[in-house]
Amino acid sequence: MPHIPVMTTEVLEYLLWDYAGKYVDCTLGDGMHSKAILRIIGPHGGSILGLDRDPRALDSARSNLSNHINQVELALSTFGEMESKILDKKEKPYSGFLFDLGLNSSRLKNADDGFSYMIDGPLDMRMSPHDRLTAARIVNDFPEKQLADLLFRNSDERFSRKIAKAIAGYRQKNSIQTTYQLRDIIYGVVKGYQRLKSVARCFQALRIAVNNELEELKNGLPAAFMHLQSGGRLVVISYHSIEDRIVKGFLRDNRLPRRAAEGKYLKILTPKPVRPTADEQSVNPAARSARLRAAEMVIVSNG
Ligand SMILES: C[S@@+](CC[C@H](N)C(=O)[O-])C[C@H]1O[C@@H](n2cnc3c(N)ncnc32)[C@H](O)[C@@H]1O
Repeated sequence: MPHIPVMTTEVLEYLLWDYAGKYVDCTLGDGMHSKAILRIIGPHGGSILGLDRDPRALDSARSNLSNHINQVELALSTFGEMESKILDKKEKPYSGFLFDLGLNSSRLKNADDGFSYMIDGPLDMRMSPHDRLTAARIVNDFPEKQLADLLFRNSDERFSRKIAKAIAGYRQKNSIQTTYQLRDIIYGVVKGYQRLKSVARCFQALRIAVNNELEELKNGLPAAFMHLQSGGRLVVISYHSIEDRIVKGFLRDNRLPRRAAEGKYLKILTPKPVRPTADEQSVNPAARSARLRAAEMVIVSNG
């Protein structure tokens, strides 16, 4: 089953303003947001450049967007590569950039990808099969202190030191290769109602590290800023507070008065993050943690 797109109504509301424009979907996934966007801009000549780091996502999106094939261009790219590889500097700036961060739900449900602590599988967690670092390598090879810091930094896990110590102790006897092994090590040291949350946070922290997600986001947002036209929109949906902090900081750093001298700045359209409606949260539990922030590019012309 394809991914259920999150906050589609709000994405369309904040992103679309120029129906004949070209938009960049930086997190194409199954192409479900792009499909909703193309339904609106397609008849007006608008188009989409769809990017994803995962080649399987591009295949899936290609099939889901087959009705709009003349109005989409798809390319394999991380946020970090987007600037040098994809965004053509000679082309007109874009009308909008969409980032729907996180994971495609089909990846989460696939045991072989090792993202979920609810399914036993290899401890992999790579969004792209072309990447080298896996979660198994981190838990087996990283020094205990580095592991504890990583767990804390990427998920605010308060038992990070205890968990890193348990991992370091376990791996002296056995290598850690599966999601259930890691889950059980954490269960061994965190008790009571906290333990499931700790497992979820540790899995999140490892996934962020494997895919270098925070650095990716920090590189992707300025690339979007560089290539937005005046009036263009930046829309970001994040799924945990660490990502949201980065997005919030980026919008704040690029609004007035900080950017007044450059004559190019962001007008924040969402003073507070927009949350999914209660209806959406009940139909799609994966949307519960979503927070959407949006901004409009303002370029002051001197002429
Ligand atoms: C939540 S899914 C997007 C779902 C999509 N909006 C839809 O409606 O079908 C996030 C997608 O972004 C991709 N992704 C995450 N981080 C990325 C990065 N740094 N560079 C490129 N793609 C990334 C993932 O591979 C995944 O396919």
